[in-house]
Amino acid sequence: MKGIILAGGSGTRLYPLTLVSSKQLLPVYDKPMIFYPLSVLMEADIRDILIISTPQDNEKFIQLLGDGSKYGIKLTYEIQPSPDGLAQAFIIGEKFINNEPCAMILGDNIFCGMGLNKILNAAVKDAENGVSTIFAYHVNDPQRFGIVEFDSNMNVLSIEEKPALPKSNYCVTGLYFYDGHSSEFAKKIVPSDRGELEITDLNNIYLKQNKLKVKLLDTGFVWMDTGTFDSLMDASIYVQTISKHQDVVICSPELVAFSKGWITKEMIFASADKYGKSPYGKAIRKAAEMMR
Ligand code: G1P
Repeated sequence: MKGIILAGGSGTRLYPLTLVSSKQLLPVYDKPMIFYPLSVLMEADIRDILIISTPQDNEKFIQLLGDGSKYGIKLTYEIQPSPDGLAQAFIIGEKFINNEPCAMILGDNIFCGMGLNKILNAAVKDAENGVSTIFAYHVNDPQRFGIVEFDSNMNVLSIEEKPALPKSNYCVTGLYFYDGHSSEFAKKIVPSDRGELEITDLNNIYLKQNKLKVKLLDTGFVWMDTGTFDSLMDASIYVQTISKHQDVVICSPELVAFSKGWITKEMIFASADKYGKSPYGKAIRKAAEMMR
């Protein structure tokens, strides 16, 4: 199973910050935003990951994450020259995907919750058996997202991108698990009215073939798209609250790697040394010291 993190886009809703910095490198409380989606793919046992970013930011991601060996994974990098849509990732990544099942997560999406592991493992297995999975989550502002319409038995009737008149409040989150056909199908998509290759169009191709599962993430899960100042602030406060009150470190690639047996404790200490006296450096050192 391959994995892609899409960290492109121009982040206009976060101007003027994103005039000089990649959105996905902005902080969510104590660590860069991209640590969160990276941890999710790692939780899904995906160790071969492609990071797609912009021409101006690619080097910064390489500087931060390197070849992935410090997390016991393999990271490679590609550039999306202009923000032409999420589905373009499967065309840019065609060689990397190599007709294998592939997950994609958006670089500004945060997923958290007990049992996420199980859900991710099931999606991986399904994708390997030719059934793709996307995840739906209840939102109050459905005009901003891809929206799923269900019938009374929770069968999916339609998926629409940013509908003016949403048929439900269930949004498609930015985490997708596809079978080996993602690149082939992505190449069939034509640009939408806003000039983008829409991920919703890719999902609709799978839906039409009856090969798409839409898994509802219930209230036990937190999902956030951190693309606006308010949601960025909400996400930081959420992570701060959990970190302080429950004394846990969430979405740490180093700690996920250790829990999977991919790296040693010494490797966590080496990263912690590099992060110096920062709260994140201290937190992963403390967590590693307490772990067996
Ligand atoms: C994108 C997708 C949309 C999805 C959302 C989740 O929207 O097009 O279907 O619901 O991500 O974050 P964008 O963030 O590009 O506006």
